[in-house]
Amino acid sequence: MNPFNPAPGALPAAIVGREPELIAIREALRRIKGGSPPVPVLFTGQRGMGKTALLQELRRLAGSSTLAVPLEALRSQSLAASLREKFDTLLDGVGNLPAKTGRALERVLKDLPKISYELPHGAGSIALQGSGEEESHDRSLATMLQALRVAAGGAKRFMTITVDEIQDADLRSLEILVRFVHESAQGDEPVLLASAGLNDSHVVLEQLRTYVQRWASFELRLLTQAETIEALLAPILEADATIEEEALQRLAAESAGYPVFIQTYGSAAWERHRGRAITLGDVEASLPEARARCELAFYVRPLARMSPRETLFALALAELGPGAHPIGAVARSLGTDAPSISSIRTTLVRKSIIAVPMSGKVEFRIPFTDRYLRAHREEYESEDVSSYRRRLAADG
Ligand SMILES: Nc1ncnc2c1ncn2[C@@H]1O[C@H](COP(=O)(O)OP(=O)(O)OP(=O)(O)O)[C@@H](O)[C@H]1O
Ligand SMILES: [Mg+2]
Repeated sequence: MNPFNPAPGALPAAIVGREPELIAIREALRRIKGGSPPVPVLFTGQRGMGKTALLQELRRLAGSSTLAVPLEALRSQSLAASLREKFDTLLDGVGNLPAKTGRALERVLKDLPKISYELPHGAGSIALQGSGEEESHDRSLATMLQALRVAAGGAKRFMTITVDEIQDADLRSLEILVRFVHESAQGDEPVLLASAGLNDSHVVLEQLRTYVQRWASFELRLLTQAETIEALLAPILEADATIEEEALQRLAAESAGYPVFIQTYGSAAWERHRGRAITLGDVEASLPEARARCELAFYVRPLARMSPRETLFALALAELGPGAHPIGAVARSLGTDAPSISSIRTTLVRKSIIAVPMSGKVEFRIPFTDRYLRAHREEYESEDVSSYRRRLAADG
């Protein structure tokens, strides 16, 4: 069996290089299992850094002692609507409930418009009258959360809420969710909240002010070379195979500490090998295709959506190297000022190509986009791009 898995959100054979994050997860679980409120945790980072994997690991470690409520924010839907969709299944999944809990649930759910619900395992049946069309968003989200907590408590489990892609969450749902978690910390059934999102999650979270300042927040970085080697080697050894030293070095150099690349290139080399050992030949034979696949998915396709003016902006940002850069620096290199290019920034953010990790700065959402654009500069330098560059510099 291939011990690598490049699928989004797949739990890797070993979560390497995330010790501080794993310590925070274990500490939160230790606290909540002891009945005391844990500090909410937040993982941010570029695409493919392992954010979803950490949320998964948290749920895995919590195991059957938790009622897990996994939410993923979408730009097109409120968190309240997402929870509504899975609410019945979640409540069903709680299992046997004492009759007392059934009655408590009934009281809570009376607030939820238009839901009729058969309690699991004969704990009772709830038929609720609809309370009119104008269903209150706030009340229904708060009610669903409250109901899940009552059910979790009745089943002697604690509640874990994970919110993935939190940068896309609607502020209104988030406010209710965060307040619910915060208030639970004052009672005897605290709730564990863990979130993950792209670097611009802070834009939405800053609007929640005080609550969020106390979260344990981690920005995921690329793995170091030693960690990359471990992330490649550990799964291979665990699968009772080996890898030649040169082959390992080649895979590590190519992956450059990026978790998605580690999984993709590791997986491709694994598929190629015969016998017990992965050889340098296996790696060299498998790399070109794997690299092409990554480039297509991470750079070619997303960047193809750029207009000439966006391309110009992206090329200028790429020249500044990896990491976040002031928008003023991008503007200067184009011979203009920040306000002149702020509308281009907005459309690039909307197209998910760049993010605004903090006010005034911009960063590519996918690691190594800068490197890719520098290497393929000519392909992006069209006539339209050049003429837009001349126009911008003349105006600026
Ligand atoms: N610490 C790690 N070591 C090795 N592989 C990892 C590590 N963390 C995650 N991975 C692997 O990297 C890939 C990407 O992980 P994941 O989907 O969790 O990233 P993400 O940050 O949630 O990405 P996105 O922003 O696209 O949602 C997965 O194949 C996962 O198994
Ligand atoms: Mg993810």
